[in-house]
Amino acid sequence: MWKKLSETADYLLSRTSIRPETGIVLGTGLGNLINDISITDTIPYTEIPNFPVTTVEGHQGNLIFGHLAEKPVVAMQGRFHYYEGFSMVETVFPLRVLKLMGIRQAFLSNAAGGINPDYKVGEIMVIRDHINFFPESPLRGKNIDELGTRFPDMSEPYDKSLIRIAHSVASKIGIRLHQGIYLGNPGPSFETPAEYTHYRMIGADAIGMSTIPEVLAARHMSLPVFAVSVVTNVAIPGNFSENTHEDVQIAANRAAADMAKLFKGVIVESPYLS
Ligand code: HPA
Repeated sequence: MWKKLSETADYLLSRTSIRPETGIVLGTGLGNLINDISITDTIPYTEIPNFPVTTVEGHQGNLIFGHLAEKPVVAMQGRFHYYEGFSMVETVFPLRVLKLMGIRQAFLSNAAGGINPDYKVGEIMVIRDHINFFPESPLRGKNIDELGTRFPDMSEPYDKSLIRIAHSVASKIGIRLHQGIYLGNPGPSFETPAEYTHYRMIGADAIGMSTIPEVLAARHMSLPVFAVSVVTNVAIPGNFSENTHEDVQIAANRAAADMAKLFKGVIVESPYLS
């Protein structure tokens, strides 16, 4: 695995002159953030050795290298989901490669169902902690010592200083920013009303089908993580309605501009960049 990761990182370093310091993962419907990147190189996943290939509708598969807020970034336009049939190790392969390329922080995004009654469609929640319902871990199996320790600490999975900056950026640019707990489910079915109610009872504010694998891999590599959920549907007692992937994509698309502004603001003030 280490050899494959290095081979892929070396290939990408030879394909682009950008030396990214921030790795951005764009969730469902959030791909428009790339419009804010001054792009130097676009590399389709299909051209990258050892990369899995994404299949889900609405997810394009490209690595985008360029500058966001004048900082060198790489954005994953389309991520790899467990529900597509990838193993947990495959879902985190790209993020591990980006770490080998030199990124110093991971900015993750996802579309999620809001189960906190305060949340409205189109609003953004910065993730402060998570509850993991994936059936296995990308770190299971022989530890890759070059990446990190066997038993990674998870006492601060989401970087507190980046969260603090996000709140100050949000108030400066005038967007409502929630802060809450993300619950990750393997999917691909959405939750039943009883499940949404159950997850609310155990303390979750939003539910999605991604992000947690990448957070586990990032923290294993001691990479600071900043992550947000865009609320694309709400599910609270008295307000359960049918969920469709199309509605999720449309709602995410509408919130993408706010998320882009937030990411830019946090990147500018990040303590982890030169
Ligand atoms: N549940 C799980 N994943 C999701 C949801 C949801 O309600 N909305 C968007 N992704």
